[in-house]
Amino acid sequence: MEQYTITRLGHQGDGIAEGPVFAPLTLPGEVVTGTLDGTRLTDIRIITPSDQRVAAPCRHYKSCGGCQVQHGSDAFVADWKVDIVRHALAAQGIEASLRPVLTSAPKTRRRASLSVRRTKKGAMAGFHARASDVIVQIPDCQLLHPDLLAAIPVAERLAVIGGSRKGELSVLATLSTVGLDLAVTGGKPLDGQLRIDLSAEVEASKLARLSWDDEVVGQREPPAQHFGRAAVVPPPGAFLQATPDGEAALLGAIREIVAGANHIADLFAGCGTFALPLAERAEVHAVEGDKDMIAALDLGWRRAVGLKKVTHEGRDLFRRPLMPDELRKMDAVVIDPPRAGAEAQVRELAASTVPVIAFVSCNPVTFARDAKILVDAGYSLSWVQVVDQFRWSSHIELVARFSLT
Ligand SMILES: C[S@@+](CC[C@H](N)C(=O)[O-])C[C@H]1O[C@@H](n2cnc3c(N)ncnc32)[C@H](O)[C@@H]1O
Repeated sequence: MEQYTITRLGHQGDGIAEGPVFAPLTLPGEVVTGTLDGTRLTDIRIITPSDQRVAAPCRHYKSCGGCQVQHGSDAFVADWKVDIVRHALAAQGIEASLRPVLTSAPKTRRRASLSVRRTKKGAMAGFHARASDVIVQIPDCQLLHPDLLAAIPVAERLAVIGGSRKGELSVLATLSTVGLDLAVTGGKPLDGQLRIDLSAEVEASKLARLSWDDEVVGQREPPAQHFGRAAVVPPPGAFLQATPDGEAALLGAIREIVAGANHIADLFAGCGTFALPLAERAEVHAVEGDKDMIAALDLGWRRAVGLKKVTHEGRDLFRRPLMPDELRKMDAVVIDPPRAGAEAQVRELAASTVPVIAFVSCNPVTFARDAKILVDAGYSLSWVQVVDQFRWSSHIELVARFSLT
């Protein structure tokens, strides 16, 4: 049988041998055999294991597609993630000082998107299997906070109540300070009886809130999140950082970067994850495209005690970025765009005189593209802190410090 030597991991976490031949669940340096199906190896046998190979901590790992690199040591995964960022920057001609990765502990994820399907006997909730739309049950998932695992049986009951026979329900489950906050999409259209049945389930399962295609169908208590001194009730399904550790690590790096600033702009501010804690020491102008999120941020600020002024704008920063004259009075800017990056906004930052920028990104490729725009305009990249709040997955999160030299 032909043998393949794995030379590197791809961005999705698959081992890659010359060809390219993709071999999931393998590591660089390993010699493997298997059956070639196009460019993908199946029925893989490890002939020579890597010294970085470890026993996967989760019993669901072989079938579940939720994690990609549980078979590598923590040190290996950390180096792999740092290297991805280093290579993305190098491809733009940028050399950077990369700080050691800060990784969230197992069982700390406070939100997860569960897939649910009705079955003959009832329903089944979990994650998709690797490269498949089959759902794998995950009662012993090592990623999710134990309180979040309680969402699984509730999600199954919701599918029995309001899932269609054929389709799949998506249940975004979030832990709030007062219990589970569930946002469901893909179910039957709401009618009178479905509303009654769903609100009965809210009571029976003591959910904080249940929304169905963005409509709140039951709320026992507002599902607040704490951002510093402020309590914010995010709109259903709104973006939140994945783990409290990860959020604290991002905020810690941002605080270090903006230290001493009196006026800060927080661009792509979400519900105020960074803006509200930063308002303990500085006036903050928060800009965000989603008007419901910015309204939640504003209410959280109004109810909080002892924060400095927070102004806000609902604004599409892809089409209408903040211009250099609007940025003139800012001592620092925090920018945390979606995966597409923030090319238009970064071009205006590059033309501005903002002395220091904290750039948060979940996509090393668009980050490196945007970093080059800043560097070409005279900003220097002081350091990059990789934060791994999606442990065992191929996702990467980072904070970078840019300053005008
Ligand atoms: C990665 S999230 C960061 C949110 C926030 N900083 C946090 O940590 O919770 C990106 C945010 O950008 C917002 N967004 C996406 N496209 C946008 C656009 N074109 N203009 C303004 N905001 C946008 C999303 O609604 C989301 O809140």
